[in-house]
Amino acid sequence: MVSCNLRPSLLLLLSASAFAADKPCTLHDGDKFYDLSALKASKDYQFRTDGGHTFYLNVCRAVTTDPWNTGVDEKEGDIAGLVRRDHGDFAIGLVNTTLEAKEGGLMLRQSNGSPCTGLDSGLRGSSTIRFICDTSVYAAGRPVLLAQWPSEEDKACNYELEWRTHYACPTGERGLFGGLIVFCMVMATILLMSFVVISTLYNRFVLRLSGYDQMPKFTFSHVREIWDVCSEFLRSMLDLLVAQSRSWRSKGYGNLNPTSHHWTSREEEEAMIASDPLEMESEGVHVTAEVELQDGHPHGGSGPPSEEGVV
Ligand SMILES: *[C@@H]1O[C@H](CO)[C@@H](O)[C@H](O)[C@H]1NC(C)=O
Repeated sequence: MVSCNLRPSLLLLLSASAFAADKPCTLHDGDKFYDLSALKASKDYQFRTDGGHTFYLNVCRAVTTDPWNTGVDEKEGDIAGLVRRDHGDFAIGLVNTTLEAKEGGLMLRQSNGSPCTGLDSGLRGSSTIRFICDTSVYAAGRPVLLAQWPSEEDKACNYELEWRTHYACPTGERGLFGGLIVFCMVMATILLMSFVVISTLYNRFVLRLSGYDQMPKFTFSHVREIWDVCSEFLRSMLDLLVAQSRSWRSKGYGNLNPTSHHWTSREEEEAMIASDPLEMESEGVHVTAEVELQDGHPHGGSGPPSEEGVV
């Protein structure tokens, strides 16, 4: 019931968030949502290359391994991954948290790594990691090196990796559905809690029960009683509002037609002043102000109250 009423606004909210810029390491692609931030690891993913070198890699964050002699200035950015070579670490690119949807997978491109050796000057280490949705991989999964170019271990400059993991699966639909379920559960909890509170208060102060008797009872007639009290309260609030708006409206008409109404209101006013000593006093103050103005010597605000005012 609740979800039916609130679904449109929730959908609006979700679609609005879809148009907002993607957060780092996440991607909205159509109605699908990807989030790889769970792959950020406090310890680098590592494996051995065919040539026997250790490969260190992290996702959407800098490697935790201390880079050594990479030829990359620290100011340029964080190193996303590296190969520990004999004469220094080769950085395979700087951290890039922008994901790209590609052919049913997620692509992460990293560039500006270590200067490549034995190649045209200016070329720097780069890599692409293709994350493939695999629901059978329950843990984070592991990166696999598919290819490197050039193929010689000590000259390789561009790396191509593949990573099968369930984290690369879209969560868009499930996210929407899950969000709705969570929303409904929260609403139900709030309703239940307010029922318990209102019910207890009702039992205590209206039925004057005490001890365990004031605990809410979940019977139909009891719920009906609570509902009656609540609706009565709402109705009286509504009545109050209607009465208020009616009185505002009648005031408006009074201004439009001052001939007859003015007299009655004036009479009423005089009657009220006569009956109310407070009103009399305020009328007296009013007279004081008038007298002061006629004299042409208005007293300062700090001056003593004038006796002329007392009629
Ligand atoms: C980061 O990734 C995006 C998307 O793949 C790409 O267009 C961009 O060139 C990359 N930036 C760097 C510095 O590698």
